[in-house]
Amino acid sequence: MTPSTLVPKQNGNRSEQILLFGRNFVKHPRMLGSLIPSSRFLVDRVLRQVDWARANTIVEYGPGVGTITGEILRRLRPDASLVTIEMNRDFVRYLRRTVGDRRLHVVEGSAADVQSILQERGLSHADYVISGIPYSTMPAEVREAILRATHDVLHPQGAFLVYQFTRAVLPYLLDTFPLVDQEFEPRNIMPARLFFCRLHPERRGASRKRGGPKKRARAAFDR
Ligand SMILES: C[S@@+](CC[C@H](N)C(=O)[O-])C[C@H]1O[C@@H](n2cnc3c(N)ncnc32)[C@H](O)[C@@H]1O
Repeated sequence: MTPSTLVPKQNGNRSEQILLFGRNFVKHPRMLGSLIPSSRFLVDRVLRQVDWARANTIVEYGPGVGTITGEILRRLRPDASLVTIEMNRDFVRYLRRTVGDRRLHVVEGSAADVQSILQERGLSHADYVISGIPYSTMPAEVREAILRATHDVLHPQGAFLVYQFTRAVLPYLLDTFPLVDQEFEPRNIMPARLFFCRLHPERRGASRKRGGPKKRARAAFDR
């Protein structure tokens, strides 16, 4: 099976996506947290963390118009699954209409329900959870529920890959995950902070810095 037979419809066109995204930002600024979709530089930096050979199940929180979704599908193994969880009905409809791929499950719902969403699809855990949802504008109890559920659903050697426009989420990530590595991507409208959260050090990604990652993350936050 070739990738092109797996992805017969390829995610609409860029101007339609930007228009739909901008319209929804005006309606739900706190839920979206950004006026336009992520840049390809940010997308590449996030996806560099994924070991595609061992990625059986990937979950994406807040796919929006599918900027990262399409790139995940381009790299994902033919027998693997991608579950996107999106609260915005316009985006859910758009993704279902424009991306045709048997590996993709587009779910309308909240990331807080990730465990039941995976269970209903016969999936026991996530190898990677990729998250662009805005943690600093959501109620604290929702943020806590999402981080706890993500921790519980993650494979022991998996990773939770988060991108945000500020470091505000970092203390909550450090409270939930034993290892948090940080990167920065300036080539995005609103330069982005990236946080790569893991449960075990041996599966840490491309970080080459010395010292404990938790200590590093704390030091960066304190600056
Ligand atoms: C900044 S946009 C990111 C869109 C896309 N992933 C990108 O990088 O361009 C954040 C998205 O998260 C969605 N969202 C916000 N809170 C959510 C939640 N609790 N569960 C699922 N999706 C959520 C919003 O509807 C929006 O589509």
